[in-house]
Order: sequence, then C-alpha cells, then structure tokens
Amino acid sequence: MISFPGIGASVALLLTYYGRVSAQLDRTGWTVSVDSAQGTWNPASYAIDGDASTFWHTQWTPSTPNLPHNITIDMKAPRSVSALTYLPRQDGNRNGNIGTYAVDVSVDNKTWQMSVASGNWIDDSVLKKANFAAQTAQYIRLRAITEAGGRGQWTSAAEINVLPPAEPSKGIWSAPFNTPLVAAAGAVLPTTGKVLLWSAQFVDHFNGTGNTETATYDPSTKQVSSLSLSNTNHDMFCPGISLDVNGNVVVTGGNNAAKTSIYDSKLGQWTGGPDMKVQRGYQSQTTLSNGKIFTIGGSWSGNGGTLRNGEIFDGTWNKLDGCPVSPMLTQDQDVSNGVNWRRDNHGWLFGWKDGSVFQAGPSRAMNWYTTTTTTGNQSAAGDRLGDADAMNGNAVMYDAVAGQILSVGGAPNYENKTGVNYVTAATTNANIITINAPNTTVKTESVAHMAYPRAFHNSVVLPDGSVFVTGGMQYPKPFQDDLSAFAPELWNSTTRTFTTMNPMSIPRNYHSIALLLPDATVFTAGGGLCYGPADSCTNNHFDAEIFSPPYLFNATDGSAASRPKLTSVSSLSFPVGTNLTVSSDSEIKQFSLVRFASATHSVNTDQRRIPIQPVGAGQANNYTVAVPSDAGVALPGYWMLFGINGAGVPSVATTVQIRTV
Ligand SMILES: *[C@@H]1O[C@H](CO)[C@@H](O)[C@H](O)[C@H]1NC(C)=O
Ligand SMILES: *[C@@H]1O[C@H](CO)[C@@H](O)[C@H](O)[C@H]1NC(C)=O
Ligand SMILES: *[C@@H]1O[C@H](CO)[C@@H](O)[C@H](O)[C@H]1NC(C)=O
Ligand SMILES: *[C@@H]1O[C@H](CO)[C@@H](O)[C@H](O)[C@H]1NC(C)=O
Ligand SMILES: *[C@@H]1O[C@H](CO)[C@@H](O)[C@H](O)[C@H]1NC(C)=O
Ligand SMILES: *[C@@H]1O[C@H](CO)[C@@H](O)[C@H](O)[C@H]1NC(C)=O
Ligand SMILES: *[C@@H]1O[C@H](CO)[C@@H](O)[C@H](O)[C@H]1NC(C)=O
Ligand SMILES: *[C@@H]1O[C@H](CO)[C@@H](O)[C@H](O)[C@H]1NC(C)=O
Ligand SMILES: *[C@@H]1O[C@H](CO)[C@@H](O)[C@H](O)[C@H]1NC(C)=O
Ligand SMILES: *[C@@H]1O[C@H](CO)[C@@H](O)[C@H](O)[C@H]1NC(C)=O
Repeated sequence: MISFPGIGASVALLLTYYGRVSAQLDRTGWTVSVDSAQGTWNPASYAIDGDASTFWHTQWTPSTPNLPHNITIDMKAPRSVSALTYLPRQDGNRNGNIGTYAVDVSVDNKTWQMSVASGNWIDDSVLKKANFAAQTAQYIRLRAITEAGGRGQWTSAAEINVLPPAEPSKGIWSAPFNTPLVAAAGAVLPTTGKVLLWSAQFVDHFNGTGNTETATYDPSTKQVSSLSLSNTNHDMFCPGISLDVNGNVVVTGGNNAAKTSIYDSKLGQWTGGPDMKVQRGYQSQTTLSNGKIFTIGGSWSGNGGTLRNGEIFDGTWNKLDGCPVSPMLTQDQDVSNGVNWRRDNHGWLFGWKDGSVFQAGPSRAMNWYTTTTTTGNQSAAGDRLGDADAMNGNAVMYDAVAGQILSVGGAPNYENKTGVNYVTAATTNANIITINAPNTTVKTESVAHMAYPRAFHNSVVLPDGSVFVTGGMQYPKPFQDDLSAFAPELWNSTTRTFTTMNPMSIPRNYHSIALLLPDATVFTAGGGLCYGPADSCTNNHFDAEIFSPPYLFNATDGSAASRPKLTSVSSLSFPVGTNLTVSSDSEIKQFSLVRFASATHSVNTDQRRIPIQPVGAGQANNYTVAVPSDAGVALPGYWMLFGINGAGVPSVATTVQIRTV
C-alpha cells in the first residue's frame, strides 16, 4: 500500500456549476492509500489535491495490475458522511474512468461496512456522485470494479470529495440502485403498489418493432425484479399511457404505431387490445370523466405526414375528426423523412368535466376538446401568457377542485438543433393555469420562476399540494447529459415559489421518469435509450433513486417524522360524491386524493390531486371525507388517500377506487 498526504483545497466552483453539490468536507490533512499508482506522474494524492487538472492513475508501466482497484481516504477523525463525489480525469482522455463502483466505510480501518453505495458510472468527464444513508466513518473507500469503457485494467480519478449528511429540510435521496433496463416509461400499479417499468424491445436502445422488456420495482421489499418480455407483439417505446378505471395500464403506439396493449394490474399480465385507427408515436392520451380514453397527435411514427386528429377508446377505437390536432401544433418545423414530426408531440392533456379534454400545452395555444358528440369538437382556450411553446416541459394539476395546473419549463422547439428561428434554450418559466367550465377562456398567470432552466424534466404533485420538479437540462439534447440540473425544486402552492432541494446522484433527462409512491416518496429512474447500436448510447442510466421530501423529516432535529396512520376507511371503491368515514391514530388536518400515475417523455396525464378538508370536528380522530361529485374533477380510477397532520406530515396512502357507477 502506498500512502500520500493530501492537500486541503476545494473544487467548489466546478461542482456547484452543475447545481450538484451543496457542501463538501474540508480535506486538509487527509491521506489516501491505493493498491496501485503510476509513480511520481500520477500519485494517489492527486485525487484529493483540489486541482482538477491532475489525477491519480493506477500503474500502467512497466506492468498493469488488474482491476479491481481501490482508494481509501483517511479523514483522520470520525465524521458523519452521506455521499462521495468522483471527478473523472479532465484532460480529454478517458482511460481509467470508473464504471462499476462500490463505496465502503469504516471507523477503524478494520471493520468495514461494504457497499453503502454501488452502481455504474457513465464513461464521460462529468462529475459523479454516490449518495448513501448517513454513516459515521473515518475511512471511506472507493472500489473501482470495472473501467467504464472496457479499454484496460486502469483506474483514474481527478478529484474525490466526501460530503456530510444532506440537510433533511431539503429532502433526502436514497443511494441509486440498479434496474435491468433503462426505464423510459413507468406506471405505479394500484393493486400492488409496485412500479411497472419498461424500455423498448431492447433494454439499452431502440430499433424497430417487437415486444418490450419490462421489470417491476417493489417498494415494500426495495427489490427490482428481473426482466420479463411482454407478449403482445408491441414495442411500447414512445407510447401514450393512461391508467383506466380498473387500474389497468393502457399503452398505445410508439415503435409499433397502431398497437394497444393493456397491463392487467391484478393478474400481472399483458393483453393485446384493438389497434388504433391512426398510427401514433409521441402522442399523449388521458382517461376521461366517463372512463373512456382520448388520444391525439403522435407524428413520431407511422402514417407519414398525415395530421393525427383525436381518437377515443371504449373497448374499440373511434376517430373523432371534429377534434383536430392543428390548433395544438407548436411552431417546431423539424422535418424528418418528409414529416414535420415534432410539433404534435407530448400534449398536456387533462380529462375534465362532461367528457371534455383540456389541452394546456406544450403549444402556447391551449384548447378544449369535446369528445361526447359523434365526431367531437374543439374550441380555443386562449394562450398560455408569459410563456412560449414549451416542448418537453411539464404540466401538473395540483388542485383539481380549483382547476389549477402548474406548468414548468420546456423549450420552444424539441431538440437542440440549428435552424431558422429554432430556439432551443429551456426556460425557467412557471405558470398557473386555472380552468373552469369546458369551452370557457382560461386564466393564466406567470409566477416566480424556477432556479434552473429545464427540459426533459419530470414533475410530481405531492399529497400536500407541493409540486416536486426534478431532472432536466438547459438545452434539450436527447440521450445526453450536458448541463443537467441535478438539484430538484419544490414548489409551494401557497407562496407560489420554488425552493431548491438536495441534488440527486444521477442526471435524469430524456427518457427518464418520476412517480409518486403510496408512501409519499418519489421514485425516479431512467434516462438515455438512444437509437442503436447499443454501444452508441453512452448516457444510459440503468438505475433508480428515491426522494424523501422534507415533510418526512422532523423540522427540529432532522429525524424521521412520526407519521399519522389511517386506521380505517369506510369504503375502498365508490362512485363520485361519496362521503367516506376515515379514522386515524392521531389528528388529521387535511386529506388529499392523489391519482395513481404513469410517466414517459415528461408526460404524466394520470396524476392529479384533490385537496379535501374534513367535515365535522373529527371526534376520536374520525372524519368525514367528501369526495367531489364531479367525475371531471375526480376522474375514474385508482387514487391514493393521504391524511396530513398539523406538522404537514402525510400518512402512507390507503388505495381507493373511484368508479364510474
Ligand atoms: C484493495 O486493493 C488491494 C490491492 O489490490 C487488495 O489487497 C485489497 O483486497 C483491496 N480491497 C478491497 C476491499 O477490494
Ligand atoms: C488500513 O489498513 C491496511 C491493512 O488492512 C493498511 O495497509 C493501511 O495502511 C491502513 N491505513 C491506515 C491509514 O491506517
Ligand atoms: C363544433 O361546434 C361548432 C359550434 O357549436 C359548430 O358550429 C360545429 O358544427 C361543430 N363541429 C362539429 C364537427 O360538430
Ligand atoms: C445547443 O446547446 C449548446 C449548449 O450546450 C448551446 O451553446 C448551443 O447554442 C445550442 N445550439 C442551439 C442551436 O441552440
Ligand atoms: C363545448 O362546445 C362544443 C362545441 O364546440 C359543444 O359540442 C359542447 O357541448 C360544449 N361542451 C360543454 C360542456 O358545454
Ligand atoms: C408553503 O408556505 C407556507 C407559507 O410560508 C407555509 O405555511 C406552508 O407550510 C408551506 N407549505 C409546504 C407544503 O411546505
Ligand atoms: C437496426 O436493426 C436492423 C435490423 O436488425 C439493423 O440492420 C440495423 O443495423 C440496426 N440499426 C442500428 C442503428 O443499430
Ligand atoms: C420532532 O421531534 C420533537 C422532539 O425532538 C417532537 O416533540 C416533535 O413532535 C417531532 N415532530 C415531528 C413532526 O415528528
Ligand atoms: C356529505 O357530507 C356533506 C357535509 O356534511 C353533506 O353536505 C352532503 O350532503 C353529504 N353527502 C352525502 C352523499 O351524504
Ligand atoms: C370512530 O371510528 C371507529 C373505528 O371505525 C369506530 O369504532 C368508532 O365508533 C368511531 N367513533 C365515532 C365517534 O364515530
């Protein structure tokens, strides 16, 4: 073993540029030990010298010892730690970039807590981070198990830093954990609480047609299943997704552009449904107040350059040509194989009153669609003032009773390309859109912006009405990670302002997802999955992370908040307008229903939140919870019922179904 003194310094400037690291421990006096180093050229001390232009490299001449390699940092005193950052060499050469890694900690350099974090880092020069549950340690060891490019038996590191525990008031991220596929799409299954994940015909790239690789994450065991190939002859890459009244996942189009596949969440199996009348990919779709499903747009696949007007599903698909796509096109003029293929993508659709659909974006122009007449109809709803076209932005109905939607980020055009008037910088924009009766002009207000510009991000409404905005990047560059926003932001619906949260470990951009789980944490995964061949997808993220929002921590001491528990709910399946009797083990100040959700390509048309003030005094912690009587507000399907106490802490949800009858 070779030991080198460390020189205390910091590379804070480089790190905070990416919004990524909040604090790092002062390395003054620290020493490092490694199993191998290339003499005086690349000593181990260079990994903690604060100079990003120098780096530790394992020996390559006269001989090259085999992987794995390791570097152990002696912090000289026990400290509380919860993350390690790794800056790969910055000289343009990638030799020695760490691929598969593990982090171990010890208080005495004898007994080790192995693999407090582990995973795979991508082969680029961007800073890497490994979050883990807070540990007391004097020694921290980074084990390099593979070289990221498989080029040789080397390991190199420009800088390694150690971070103290994150501030719980800014939320806590789990360590990343592996998924057997790049989760470009997902849905939370109401009947099991598991998260269904899928990629394409391949786990790491897309190309053509076929079946789809899937896997599930089980929050109760924190395990991810092995791969399973769906059997509906449908490559469900770039689909429309919605959860129906029975909690089934209805997936349409994408690589097999006409197909419908339905995942029965009770049986845990896929069945093929009828083909759509119009072929689509990148369409979006939403469940309606009458339980039917509406879809529109989707010029990414099939049907050449024809306009993809609306279509409705009620066991069979029927065209609604009175629901034209033209009023919701963005100004994007990107043409591929003669098709203007971006401008009708990823509609922000909301099923609303009387079978109507409100389209809030991404076009600046907003629209109402009528789906209950034979051919359907459309009327303009006004412009989203204070915003341009916002492709790959998000829209979240955080208060369905008030008809309020938050829109965030996005860019005028889909992709960071050069062209006439082709503006692709993502915005920090935030707007509140308030809808009322269908066909009426909609009010929009520009509110305080986010700290970071974002496109390809995901936004999740939390039980308390906050909106958690996570991932995304400054310029929409599909399959890439440059200028990623690592720090998420939490929007307070009362103050209408964002607060920056602790940064995550892994960038989550194009083809990433985020979903609220019934335990009130947020699951996020994926990113990458480019067109083949597989080894050209250099930014694939085969992993997931869980965010525990600030409400799960005690504001006084940062310990786990004590959570209220719902002990009984008078009915678990009921029509709209039902009054529930809900009992809890402690006082509840507010209830909320949050609909189970699905996500792909920054679109999540399933989630929405209904705040409910309990009626009556709640004697003996029994409450009357009045479910709204309008099925356009309380859309049919499965919902998570949360009780929130006076400290703002949510219960784990009870799963309930709102039926159509
Ligand atoms: C670290 O590397 C040394 C030298 O190769 C080896 O003896 C030791 O087992 C390694 N430790 C771990 C935990 O991999
Ligand atoms: C830690 O223990 C190893 C042997 O297991 C030893 O080689 C190394 O020098 C020790 N490091 C320190 C800083 O004590
Ligand atoms: C749509 O509604 C308008 C206004 O009521 C009406 O004039 C038009 O005929 C309708 N179009 C369709 C396709 O029903
Ligand atoms: C693409 O992104 C880069 C930032 O990485 C930016 O400098 C460039 O101007 C962008 N190109 C276009 C055409 O917007
Ligand atoms: C909205 O307007 C259309 C005509 O554009 C009409 O058919 C439909 O009934 C109206 N919807 C409601 C809920 O009034
Ligand atoms: C939002 O801000 C208000 C005013 O500061 C505060 O009372 C409330 O607790 C905040 N809500 C959440 C969910 O943090
Ligand atoms: C896509 O698949 C086809 C058929 O297998 C193959 O010929 C082609 O090389 C693949 N394209 C890429 C980019 O991998
Ligand atoms: C936070 O901890 C304090 C004691 O440290 C306790 O009195 C309080 O009830 C706790 N609050 C929550 C929300 O758990
Ligand atoms: C539900 O409770 C509210 C408030 O107590 C009451 O006004 C309403 O009539 C009740 N609805 C039903 C269907 O019982
Ligand atoms: C409260 O709920 C419990 C459990 O459902 C029930 O036994 C009790 O009678 C209820 N009390 C009141 C006052 O409704």
